[in-house]
Order: sequence, then C-alpha cells, then structure tokens
Amino acid sequence: TFRSEDEREDIMALISMRQLLDHAAENDYGIAALNVNNMEQIQAIMAAAEETESPVIVQASKGARSYAEDLYLRNLMQAASELHPNIPLVMHQDHGDSVATCQSAMDMAFTSVMMDGSIDDKSQPASYEYNVNITKQVVDIAHSRGISVEGEIGALGGVEDGHGAGLSEEEAQEHLTDPEEAERFVAETNVDALAVAIGTSHGAYKFTKKPTGEVLRISLIEEIHRRLPNTHLVMHGSSSVPQELQDLVNEFGGNIKQTYGVPVEEIQRGIKSGVRKVNVDTDNRLAITGAIRRLFAQSPEKFDPRDYMKPARAEMQKVCAARMVAFGQAGYASKIQPCTLKCMVDFYAK
Ligand code: G3H
Ligand code: 13P
Ligand code: ZN
Repeated sequence: TFRSEDEREDIMALISMRQLLDHAAENDYGIAALNVNNMEQIQAIMAAAEETESPVIVQASKGARSYAEDLYLRNLMQAASELHPNIPLVMHQDHGDSVATCQSAMDMAFTSVMMDGSIDDKSQPASYEYNVNITKQVVDIAHSRGISVEGEIGALGGVEDGHGAGLSEEEAQEHLTDPEEAERFVAETNVDALAVAIGTSHGAYKFTKKPTGEVLRISLIEEIHRRLPNTHLVMHGSSSVPQELQDLVNEFGGNIKQTYGVPVEEIQRGIKSGVRKVNVDTDNRLAITGAIRRLFAQSPEKFDPRDYMKPARAEMQKVCAARMVAFGQAGYASKIQPCTLKCMVDFYAK
C-alpha cells in the first residue's frame, strides 16, 4: 500500500472512473471495461488502446486479485501507465463483495471500485436495505479519497468468482432492475455508476438463441435512463460470444456448446440510452483459448510458452480493439485532460 495519497499520485498516473464516464456521457460514447488476470491481458488491452487511441477501463475481480497477487497487478498497471502515458487509464475493482474488499483495492492502486451489494454474504440476491447500507459505506470512504464507486441493483445470472447467486437465464428474468428502485438507490447511496440487470448473465451461456427484446431488455435501460439522466449506467455480462470465437475454440478440440451473447448492435443501442461502461471478459477468454488451442494443434512440437502466449495476446488485442471502436471510445484518448484523485476529492466535496 502507499504511505500517502501524494506518494500514490507520484507513482501512478491512473485516473478515476468518474472522470472518464463523465467525458463519455458528454460525448455520447461507451467504454469497454476489460478484465485482467495477468501481464499478457494487460498488454493486449494497452496495445488495443494505442491502436485505436482509446481511453480504457481495466478491471480485476476478487478472483483475479488473488490469482495475480495484488502487488504484481499494481506494478503491472504501473508499467502500463508508464509505457502508455497518453492513454487515460482507470483501474477498477470488479464485483467487490464487501467493504473490506473495496477498502483493500483502494489501498492498493485502484481508482474505482464496484461494491456489488446486489448479492448478500450468503450468495443470495440481497435485500434493498442490505445493498444500500453496504454501498453507502463504500461511497463514503471512496469519495473522500477521490475514488469512484459503481453499485448494482437487480441481480444478474451466472456466477462471478463464487460471488453470485448462480441464477439461471429464467431466474435472472425475475431479478431485473426495477427502475423506481434504481432511482431511490442512487439518491440514497450517491454512486457514480449503476450496474443494471436487463437479462444478461456472466459467462458464455447467456441465451439459447439470438436474444429478442423479450429476454434482453434494452427498453428497460431507456426507462432507467429517463429517471436517472445523470447516472452512468453499466452493462455487465456484455460479451457478444461471437460465432467465430466459438468455432475457433471448437475447431481445435474445444467443446463450447452453441450459445448466444449480447449482439454488439444491442450494446450500441444501450449506449445511446445512457450506458457508459460495458463489461467484457468472456470474449477475451475465448480469444485467448482459441489461439492457444490453434497453436497447440498446428504446431504440437512447440513448448515455449511465448509461442502460444504471443498469438493469444494478439487474438485478445483484436477483440479489444473491435469493441473499443464499436462502443465509440476510439479516438478520445488525447481529448481527456487527466484529473488526479486529489482533484477528484475537491469534485466530490462540492
Ligand atoms: O464477473 C465476472 C468476470 O468475468 C470476472 O470473472 O470472477 O472469474 O475473475 P472471475
Ligand atoms: P461477460 O462474461 O459477458 O464477459 O461479462 C463480464 C462482466 O460482466 C464482468 O463484470
Ligand atoms: Zn460483472
């Protein structure tokens, strides 16, 4: 951890998510929030950001933090910011499950945290009161340090890092965000960004056929945005699970059952209605796995990890760059004047 906020600012040139999402809202674009667990994933994102001149949100789940170890992650992110000084970069805690998880992220290097109080400490959909209470505690700590907070109302399908109720596609439909409750939640917690449940779920298996408006409720986003025009909306479970990536994995010995994700055009509709942060992890996992399987199948004599990590990284870079262009963040890197966390403290104090 850092000895002081000054020391953090001298070392890390990361910006808060609030600043980036405000800029995205002013200019009507969305930003991919991309999950990382290792060096190659961070490199793939930064290369895609350079290629498309995009500001970026890099996020790590609790599982990613324990896999990579906090100090490795922090120093890799520091390397990313030093190697790419012209890319506005946010480091975000994905699905923080407790005040302690968010607190340790803030003490490390994260400039943004998600307090996911939609799921309680028994991995069940939480009560509204539990969610407000725990989220508010995190907002108070974070804002006093210039760090931004994402909350979640409604619960998604799938499981995140053991954290999640593991709701099926059908059950998830019963936990969609209630727009009236969303409005109250933001007023009571003062979160900067709000994750909403509109029928998506985490992982590869989201929909059994190409989703219609019945199961993927972009119209719900429009209604939430009408009530909360100044809150940045977040779409989780936003991988598109493209057919080409399923085929790539399966062609070389994988076994992904036919599935459907969130079409990029639907995400673009969401962005037109106030979605600013779009979480994508699964597509990158598929890209990496597909590239590694292909290399193993085509060159079974190879055993130097660089021989398969390089194409894996390149395949992930392609996915990231495509999303950056599609979501509209491409070209904006040089348009953002970084505001330090100290300047964000003043912003929140107003
Ligand atoms: O929340 C879901 C993200 O894809 C992160 O997944 O918890 O397995 O690291 P994870
Ligand atoms: P996907 O599984 O659709 O990539 O969603 C990732 C996510 O929401 C991370 O928080
Ligand atoms: Zn998520």
